[in-house]
Amino acid sequence: MTSTAGYDVERIRSQFPILQRELKGKPLVYFDNAATSQKPQVVIDALVEYYSMYNANIHRGIHTLAEEATAAYEATREAVRAFIGAPSTEEIIFTRGTTEGINLVAYSWGRANILEGDEIIISSLEHHSNIVPWQMLAAEKGAVLKVIPINAHGEILLEEYYKLLNPRTKLVSVVHASNSLGVINPVKVIIDAAHAVGAVVMIDGAQSTVHLDINVQELDCDFFAFSGHKLYAPTGVGALYGKRELLEAMPPFHGGGEMIKEVRFDGTTYNDLPYKFEAGTPNIADTVAMKAALEFINGIGKENIRRHENDLLQYGTEQLRQIPGIQIKGDVAEKVSVISFVAEGIHPQDLGVLLDQQGIAVRTGSHCTMPLMQCLNITGTTRASFAAYNTKEEIDRLVAGLHKAIKILR
Ligand code: ALA
Repeated sequence: MTSTAGYDVERIRSQFPILQRELKGKPLVYFDNAATSQKPQVVIDALVEYYSMYNANIHRGIHTLAEEATAAYEATREAVRAFIGAPSTEEIIFTRGTTEGINLVAYSWGRANILEGDEIIISSLEHHSNIVPWQMLAAEKGAVLKVIPINAHGEILLEEYYKLLNPRTKLVSVVHASNSLGVINPVKVIIDAAHAVGAVVMIDGAQSTVHLDINVQELDCDFFAFSGHKLYAPTGVGALYGKRELLEAMPPFHGGGEMIKEVRFDGTTYNDLPYKFEAGTPNIADTVAMKAALEFINGIGKENIRRHENDLLQYGTEQLRQIPGIQIKGDVAEKVSVISFVAEGIHPQDLGVLLDQQGIAVRTGSHCTMPLMQCLNITGTTRASFAAYNTKEEIDRLVAGLHKAIKILR
């Protein structure tokens, strides 16, 4: 199969057992990576090794297994810190994923800091998980939720954003890369402008962390959340970065074991960072395995993966543009490897079903961004999203599959 120069895609593919699978009598083409990526053998092995060799609860036991499990869990925290360029592991909180990270900030920071009449700004590109928590907070506090408009290509209108900013703006929470369109937001500019009016900034890194170099210190964001399962790690684990001074001032999210220093019936003192935000037995196995996923990415090199994915994006975009009646949504220069499109007169779901029958997995619908679909005046799209292991030959399969499907459906 064709590879980007020096990029051994066949070697990478061989590390993903699921890619050996056939679907409907054909080799699987997995183009639903923006929903969740597949897992390399090293990640699967890390899970098996954890449960086979050193399964124990962490931070509690003095026995050897507990110490080994604790060390592995904390080693992932350091790996995450390095992966996103955070200053310290105390500022890395393990979560179930991006959604929990955003909810943690909305519940803990939001309830303590947002007052009646305060303003929260999000963008039109947001996933429901970066809309609904702020709607809930705004309703509880009597705050106002404002939305940055976009153009027809899904690009944020920065001039309109600047107009929304004012001294009542307390929080700006925006997505780094759109899950629906792949469009990359100019987050550095957004962050700096928000800071100029004294607002705190949260970045939803669910889609960007696997594709782009992330350095939270350079970005100077106040909070950054991502999910492990979109970057080759298991489901059910992710991380939230927060600036130390903000996290220290924030009340806990969940109460229970681990997040306390001392509990008495007449009062409780809370643990230090990051444990103050990690009540209860966490998702140890999946967290441990997330380190293997980060090492897998670092081993290939994020820059190399990005170059390969950009090649796929460019190739796929050129191919799809040639199919009559197909219109790509978010067809802009600055994007991650997502191609979202509509086919004239055809429902995305019908297209998705016919592609599935040809062994091609794509996502269809509103992609948990119903308001974005309303802004674009569509009900949904068909979305192909690429990862480190995808190939141009697979894109050719998609193109052939689309021709076939369109012929049937028109
Ligand atoms: N947010 C994920 C997606 O875009 C599930 O598919």
